[in-house]
Amino acid sequence: MKKQTVITTSADETVRFAKRFAVDLEPGRVLCLEGQLGSGKTTFIKGLAEGLGLRRPEQVKSPTFVLMHVYKAKTPLYHFDCYRLNSLEELENIGFQDFISDPHAISCVEWAEKAKELLPETARHIRFEILDASRRRITVF
Ligand SMILES: Nc1ncnc2c1ncn2[C@@H]1O[C@H](COP(=O)(O)OP(=O)(O)OP(=O)(O)O)[C@@H](O)[C@H]1O
Ligand SMILES: [Mg+2]
Repeated sequence: MKKQTVITTSADETVRFAKRFAVDLEPGRVLCLEGQLGSGKTTFIKGLAEGLGLRRPEQVKSPTFVLMHVYKAKTPLYHFDCYRLNSLEELENIGFQDFISDPHAISCVEWAEKAKELLPETARHIRFEILDASRRRITVF
């Protein structure tokens, strides 16, 4: 798939973009979300979860005190956030490799830069950039 860039002008628009993005997503895919605090990574995952058929997408929140959330959408969604990760061992200990290898689920990794060594080559990278208070540039590689 080729590189794709959009600029969204509100959180809702990012959600809608992610919902459309979810339609073409094959189970088994790993998405690496990169970009500074508040750039829209979690907002995107909320839209993705909605697109994957999650009943209550409002439950999508960054896993602050744990490393991972599981959402029981039609296609299960594993949501990791590596922001507070101290070592790769922490991820390995929760079975990260097994989760991201699940061929029936979609895995999203926020702050994926911190887990580079553990990510498969087939992962897709999505970069989030803050342009101003309400605009974000989202680049899918
Ligand atoms: N175009 C936009 N797209 C997404 N979020 C936007 C946009 N404009 C404003 N926002 C706001 O920016 C914030 C994005 O927060 P979000 O939790 O999605 O970021 P994040 O990248 O996951 O941050 P963190 O690294 O802290 O987890 C929200 O408060 C949202 O309302
Ligand atoms: Mg987040």
